[in-house]
Amino acid sequence: MASSPGTILLSVTGFDPAVWREEIERAAPGRTVVTEPDGPDDASIRYAVVWKQRPGILNRLPNLKAIFSIGAGVDHIFADPDVPDVPIVRVVADDLTDRMSEYVVWQVLDHHRKGPRYRRQQADKVWNEDRMQPAARDVTVGILGLGVLGLDAARKLAALGFEVAGWSRTEKTEDGVATFAGDDGLDGFLAVSDIVVCLLPLTPKTRGILSKPLFSKMKRRGPLGPAVLINAGRGDLQNEADILAALENGWLGAASLDVFQAEPLPETSPLWTHPRVTITPHAAATSVPAALIPPMIAQMEAHERGEPLTNLVDREAGY
Ligand code: NDP
Ligand code: OXD
Repeated sequence: MASSPGTILLSVTGFDPAVWREEIERAAPGRTVVTEPDGPDDASIRYAVVWKQRPGILNRLPNLKAIFSIGAGVDHIFADPDVPDVPIVRVVADDLTDRMSEYVVWQVLDHHRKGPRYRRQQADKVWNEDRMQPAARDVTVGILGLGVLGLDAARKLAALGFEVAGWSRTEKTEDGVATFAGDDGLDGFLAVSDIVVCLLPLTPKTRGILSKPLFSKMKRRGPLGPAVLINAGRGDLQNEADILAALENGWLGAASLDVFQAEPLPETSPLWTHPRVTITPHAAATSVPAALIPPMIAQMEAHERGEPLTNLVDREAGY
């Protein structure tokens, strides 16, 4: 006799859980979805779909088989010190990847084509006939994190004519991308990058990487002036006081930030009004239920047929 499909626990904060629930119920009409376990030892729950789950909610579920993140990053899961030792599946989906590459291309082109400067001139009704732009081939965009998102952005930037470099933990080769790896490769990467795009995951190794020591090694004189920083990885990769100091002392020409140490970004943050900072509200690549839930349900069904899960997190590496 076939066993009934496992119950799904949906524990989502920061997104509207009702929208995710509706999509799960549409994609998996035979499954029960709960937002609270039926007691701490609820044996019916086999899968958890989470974003910043309530701490401690997962570790007493005796039949939990896998945790599904509704985002690509999983640092929000490990923020709970009691995550049970079951497989963690993260989002790898064209929908999310395309959205992130759009954001990266948008911000790179904005800095490359002097968007912030022309917007300031427009606000002041100034017609400054500075029309010179460097050619894309004279600008190197360096991507910290050459994973699923970084690699797609690298390919799209290369197709626009930019020189592209990438930095990863393990060695990589990719046509048209100058690749650097590991701690020893970072200085060489920074030495060639006119625009540094950060698409790293937040792990114990990467926390705080975007701070004074890294900024001090960025290019000071390139076709765009001092190097530009674009961070769409995670806020805790960056030290915001160091970003502001680097903008003042000429280590950084400008910054586009999608993620922040505290989200929402507090009203008191000087980043809001800095003339060379572009802020977006963690909107670089939003998770869309209709695109992400059906493949998640398909994975659960495959798992129940005895097939292996894919897009698994390496717990030791933390991503
Ligand atoms: P991946 O796991 O596919 O890629 C991560 C990349 O970072 C890999 O190239 C990895 O190296 C590299 N890396 C990890 N640790 C180190 C290290 N210590 N030193 C050097 N390189 C390192 O992740 P994704 O590309 O799918 O996603 C990246 C991040 O983007 C997510 O973790 C999330 O934080 C963020 N994100 C933000 C969104 C937003 O809206 N702002 C939306 C979606 C994601 P290697 O290849 O060797 O493993
Ligand atoms: C993600 C995010 O990790 O949206 O997917 O930040």
